[in-house]
Amino acid sequence: MSTYNELLKKVDKKNLPAHVAIIMDGNGRWAKKRHLARVKGHEQGSKVVKSIVETASNLGIDVLSLYAFSKENWNRPREEVDALMQLLHRYLLVESNNLIKNGVRLSIIGDLKSLSPTLRELISDVRIRSKNNTGTRVVIALSYSGRYEIVEAVKAVINDVQRKKIAVEDVNEDVFAGYLFTKGLPDPDLLIRTSAEKRISNFMLWQIAYTELYITKTLWPDFTKEEFLKSIISFQKRERRFGMTGDQLISQQDSSRGHSLNE
Ligand code: FPP
Repeated sequence: MSTYNELLKKVDKKNLPAHVAIIMDGNGRWAKKRHLARVKGHEQGSKVVKSIVETASNLGIDVLSLYAFSKENWNRPREEVDALMQLLHRYLLVESNNLIKNGVRLSIIGDLKSLSPTLRELISDVRIRSKNNTGTRVVIALSYSGRYEIVEAVKAVINDVQRKKIAVEDVNEDVFAGYLFTKGLPDPDLLIRTSAEKRISNFMLWQIAYTELYITKTLWPDFTKEEFLKSIISFQKRERRFGMTGDQLISQQDSSRGHSLNE
């Protein structure tokens, strides 16, 4: 087993994914394996959030998005929903202080009006307190659904067309992306999903069109900073073609190398 420092040497710091998104899954199974209540899995998962946010920030990742609670998760048993909301509350109230001090910029995306007024206030507070920070941008998806986000964006576009703020002919992919919750952020380069499930679960449906996937058997509460580095090393070995052929990519790289030599 490689140590953190050994793995860190293998990471190409000049080719970091600008945006890493994570579907944190497997908290319930982790607890079940230990005959514990599901909530215990979420508590342990929360500690892992802390460690991965610190790792991403130390590494210099620009954006880290975490899928913490989907719109569909409201259908879980009441005690579990309450416990998750409490953990998120605690995270924003307590953990965020250190992060903000260390330059992290925190934002929450999702259907925020479905959250309690206290949580909404806290969200607005951490957003304001961290908005001038220039370190890693941590985006927590809360009461989030990709389809909901797209429908909300469509409604906002229609509204702007009706108010003549934009013409229908001017709507293109870039303009549309500016209506999403992730406005201004790069699309995820790497999406990590823990606990071996091979699905997207309504996460960033628009944004992950060309995202590289890293699916691991590890349950989220067992996910380590070492495995986070491994996912980045795996990403850095991929050939990202964005619909082109491998040969086209090589000639594109050659010509951009030529450009930089001539510049
Ligand atoms: C999925 O595992 C995980 C969740 C629904 C919640 C994720 C929340 C945390 C990791 C903790 C709080 C987050 C922050 C940002 C502080 P699951 O419960 O569906 O697991 P299972 O599939 O094994 O049942």
